Parts: sequence; C-alpha cells; structure tokens
Amino acid sequence: MDVQIELERLRTELHEHNHRYYTLDTPVISDYDFDQLLKKLEQLEAAYPEFFDPNSPTVRVGGSVTKNFETVNHRFPMLSLGNTYSLEELQEWIIRVQKLAPEATFVCELKYDGVAIGIQYVNGALTRAVTRGDGTQGDDITTNVRTIKSIPLLLNPPFPEDFEIRGEIVLPHARFEDLNKQRQNQGLPLFANPRNCASGTLKLQDSGEVAKRGLDAYLYYVLPEGILASNHSESIALAGNLGFKIPKTEDRFIANCDGIESIMSFVEYWDIARKNLPFDIDGVVIKVNSYKAQEDLGFTAKSPRWATAFKFKAERMPTILESVTYQVGRTGAITPVANLKPVWLGGTTVKRASLHNEDQIAALDLHIWDEVYVEKGGEIIPKVVGVNVDQREESSQRVVFISNCPECHSPLSRHEGEVQHYCLNEDGCEPQISGRIDHFISRKAMDIMGMGSETVALLVNKGLVKRPADLYELTFDDLIQLDGFKEKSVLNILDGIEASKQQPFERVLFAIGIRHVGATVAKKLVRHFRSMDAIMAADKEELLAAEEIGEVIADQLLTTFQKPERHSEIQRMQYYGLQFEAEIQEQATDSAITGKKIVVSGVFNSISRNELKTLIETLGGVNVSSISSKTDCVFAGEGMGPAKLKKATHLNVPILNENEVRTLLNL
Ligand code: IVH
Repeated sequence: MDVQIELERLRTELHEHNHRYYTLDTPVISDYDFDQLLKKLEQLEAAYPEFFDPNSPTVRVGGSVTKNFETVNHRFPMLSLGNTYSLEELQEWIIRVQKLAPEATFVCELKYDGVAIGIQYVNGALTRAVTRGDGTQGDDITTNVRTIKSIPLLLNPPFPEDFEIRGEIVLPHARFEDLNKQRQNQGLPLFANPRNCASGTLKLQDSGEVAKRGLDAYLYYVLPEGILASNHSESIALAGNLGFKIPKTEDRFIANCDGIESIMSFVEYWDIARKNLPFDIDGVVIKVNSYKAQEDLGFTAKSPRWATAFKFKAERMPTILESVTYQVGRTGAITPVANLKPVWLGGTTVKRASLHNEDQIAALDLHIWDEVYVEKGGEIIPKVVGVNVDQREESSQRVVFISNCPECHSPLSRHEGEVQHYCLNEDGCEPQISGRIDHFISRKAMDIMGMGSETVALLVNKGLVKRPADLYELTFDDLIQLDGFKEKSVLNILDGIEASKQQPFERVLFAIGIRHVGATVAKKLVRHFRSMDAIMAADKEELLAAEEIGEVIADQLLTTFQKPERHSEIQRMQYYGLQFEAEIQEQATDSAITGKKIVVSGVFNSISRNELKTLIETLGGVNVSSISSKTDCVFAGEGMGPAKLKKATHLNVPILNENEVRTLLNL
C-alpha cells in the first residue's frame, strides 16, 4: 500500500462526507461508518507523521494547543455597517441609494449575531482565519476555526488562487443551553449569551475543547480580490459551489429585492420569524447587489455606503414577578434580583432579571405578582423594563427595598448621591468574605493556582480564612484535614500561594479589592506613585494628580486607608513578602517622547500596534486614544482614517509616518 495515496484517498473521502453532512445536509453514510473512516485516518496519520496536513479532516476533532493568538493585519480592513432601528431611516437610505445608483437592486440577508471572521484560502486550502479585532488587526485563530465543521478546509475546484471570505461564527441555541447546563452542574460560571460563548470558545487554547462546543458559521461577504461574479448574490451562490454553507433562498435567509416594498416585507417577516431560528440574529442586512454600483457608492471612513443594517429592538416578553431577592457582592453592594415565572426569550429561558437598585424598583412601582416586561439587550443579564399596571391585583404588595443585609442582617447604608445600598459589615458577612477572597485569588488578580471558589468556601466555612492575608498563614495541617483533600492538592495550593508572592504590585493592589479600583486604575496608581506607602501617604490633591483618578476614586482610597483593619491587613501582607512596590525600571527620562501624548493610528508593517503602544509607555510616552489639542503627535501607519487625518491637520498635530516613527524611536 502506498501510504501517501491511501492518506489522500481517506482525506478526500472524509472531506466529502463532512461537506455532505454539515453543509448540504444530505449524508450518504452512517455516523458509525464515518467514525470508522476517521479512526483509520487518525491511526495512519499517527504512524506516518511525515505526511502531516494542516487541513486533514482529523483537525476537526482538535487537539492542538495555541498558547498565544498572534495579532495579524487584515489585508482589507474589516469594516462595520451603518445601522438603524427605524424603518423610516431605512427607507431614506434606500431612496438615497436609488438616487445615487438608479439601477441598483438589493440583497437582504440575516444579521447573524456572533463573532466576525475573515477566512483566507490559498490554492484552495484554508490558510488563515482572523477575528475582526479593531478592524485593521485581529487574532489569528486558524487552529480553532479549522474545527468548525461547516467551514471547508479545502475548496471544491475550480477555486480562485487567493481567496478571502468573511462571515460570522455563531453558537446555536441548543448547544448553548447544553453547555450552560453542564457548567451549572460543575459549578462553573455560566455564559451570558450565545455570542459571548462563541467568542470565548474561539479564544480557548485547546482546539479539542473548541471542537466539542459545536460552533457553526454563516458566510456573507466575498472580498473584492477573490471576486467570483459581477454581483453579491451570485458570489454567494458560487461560494456555495466552493463548499461553503450559504444562506438558502427557500429558507428566506437571503432574498433579492428590487426596492422598498420587498425589503420591508423581508424585515417584517424576520422581526417575527427570528424567534423560531435556532441561532441569534440581531437584525437584517441590506446590500446593493451589483459590484459596479457598490463601487460607485463607495465607503465612508467606517462602513460601506452600499450596505446597511436594520436592527431589531431587543426582544421583550411579558411574565410574572414572583419575588424579589437580594444578592450581596464582594464589596458589600446589594443587588435586587427579580425572580420570574420562566419565560422563553431570545433563545434562552429567563428566570431571573436584574432590578439594579432601589430607584429602579421605585421607578417601576413594582408589586409582587405584577405582569412585568423583560428585555434582553446587549447586556449580560436580562432587565425588567416595564410593568403592565392594568393586570395588577388591588391587594398586591408593593416591593419595599430591604433595610438589612439578607446574609448577616446588619443595617444597610446608602450614601447620598449614590444609587447602591451597601452592607458595611465587611468582616462578618459571609458573601463579602468569600467574595473578597475569590477576587483575590482570581486569574487577573493574584492568580493562585490550585485554588477555586469551592476551596475558598470550604476555608471560610471552617473559619480558617477570613481575609486574603490569612491565606499566607495556611499550613499543610490546616488543609489536609479538609474533606476530599489529598497531599498532592494541598501541596499544589501551598505552592500556588507561595508563588503569588512574586505577583507585581499592580496586581496586588487590584487583588486587595478596593471599591472602584479595577485593574486599569491599579495600574495607573502604581505608575504614578510606585509604592503602597506613597499611595497611602497621599492626600486628596496628590491622588487627583494621578492620571484617571477622579473625586470618587480618591475619596474611596482615603476612606479605605483610614480603616485600621485595612492598614493591618496590608502590613501583614508586606510582612509575608507580597510586592508593594513597582519593580525598579529604568526611568526613560531622556527619550524623545517622554511625557508626550501620542495617538497611534493605522497599521505598521514593522511592529504590531500593541508592541508599539507598549514601547511608547516604556519610553515614557503616554498613549491616548483620540486626537485633541493636547495631543503631541500622531504615529500614522497605513490606513489611518480620513477623519483622524483631518482632525490632526486642523489642530496642527504633527503626523509621523512609519519611517519617521522608526527614526524617532531608534527602531
Ligand atoms: S456585511 C463590508 N452581512 O455585522 C461589509 N455583516 O455591524 C461587511 N454581520 O461587521 C459586513 N451578519 O460582523 C454583513 N449578513 C451580514 C452580516 C454581517 C452579521 C456583522 C458583521 C459586521 C457587523 C456590522
């Protein structure tokens, strides 16, 4: 047997079955037979690794691990679309287009609510898949995209030599619900919605895990250079011949429309029918069909003039408010939660919704057993947005905000000018104690390996830990007596705690959990003050002098450091060897950009935007995001937007091109 020929044969056969199953929906062999073939291929590939093929059907099951996703430039920027929620504005757009391009006809499509992706094929083989990122640069997530079965790894001939197609990766509702059920059973945090889950999944390091999640993809845009036809709808049809799963006319996923009437009918149809789709859409997209007309209409700085999106208002459903409960966060913040009669909304079952705070409850004049309207916007948690007062029983009881903590019963406090209630019993309120420690050990904070929130709950429950500093006093004997703990896991935890002593000061400052001091604020404070002693010694004026520190944060810092418990906790941590000073860094006082406010725009060939921004900071410059009269200079790579260019020129801000930047920074 010629191994190479056999490998080729198996791969071709499996590619074909995959295509039939996942794209055409017309399988010709059983799942069992398919698995047998795949196993055979896997065995052969394992025995002959020299014939490795990155696009072999075996990559569908994943297995490779990507440590860091490389940031790469898009060959053509990935633009967004103009959008509107108003039918009137949509009609105005159509009329405008018809005036500018009288011959134009339109194609209507679904606006898939997922993660945008650009996929490149060279000589018919998938070579690269990149996320949208900031539009000019995205993450190379090829390994993970290769596991999505509806995306062909090899194109059916004849194919363009170099071809890029763009689309959206979505997670079907059924897979989303299954996954969240599993996570709930395992005590893991739930995903908020299918889009977040799809996006998180694509960034997983283990492609094997990605393969299991069941992502799907819909393609909607062929790039100009790989053009297959003279208009969009034909290009999409031809992409189908190449092996892509494309929207079908008979499902009404795509329609050719000649004007307002047919476009409106598409929009109205999907405003209702979207509720029965197995995945999320957030609107419809209307595109001018002919490429010639598209070219005539052109682009604005951000989006094409030949396409727009009509977005559906967030879906809203009536249901019954059964009760209101209150959650206590790690900072003592109290959040009221509406417990609802379960209702199917936007592809998931909603049982709870946030009520935010007392004012919100009062504004809704909420009563128990009210019929309430629940909406799922872009936010994570559904909201109660209204009440049907006509349905209210006279005897029903108004919701009165609690005055004592639901956990420790101490009186709640609400500061003047603030909307949130707080429980101030920091040291005696269980969710605050565990919450603070959970936060302290979390990945973005001290990243203590070997420990999770279940261990924290156990430790708090046994009275072994009450404050984060107590973690550093834990002994082997303390931990080995806990239920289910073996020597190995105890040693892992102790190692993790020990290793955390090396975490840099900015992480420690974030980890100790001061209200309003998130990771970014912590970074700014560290950069400005460089040591905990300096931060604690600063008065209000000195605190306000640091970048991004306003009244609220300054007041909070002062209040926090006035508390003797906080003082002693920080002292204990210093004693255990945690980092409370910024690492000694060469202060780049003599750099050409020290203290200069710099805007980075466009793409640079010799350095990625992120690297350039880090370099600017290292050299003592300050990255700012938008151009103002205070900007000292713009570093302009390729494709700097015309609006930025105009503004910089108008304000006389110097603009340096890539070569000039390299000279200035000695690159
Ligand atoms: S066309 C140059 N078509 O919506 C125009 N985009 O809000 C390329 N999207 O960035 C985009 N469904 O991620 C197009 N049928 C569709 C779409 C679609 C979803 C996304 C896409 C885009 C975003 C704009």
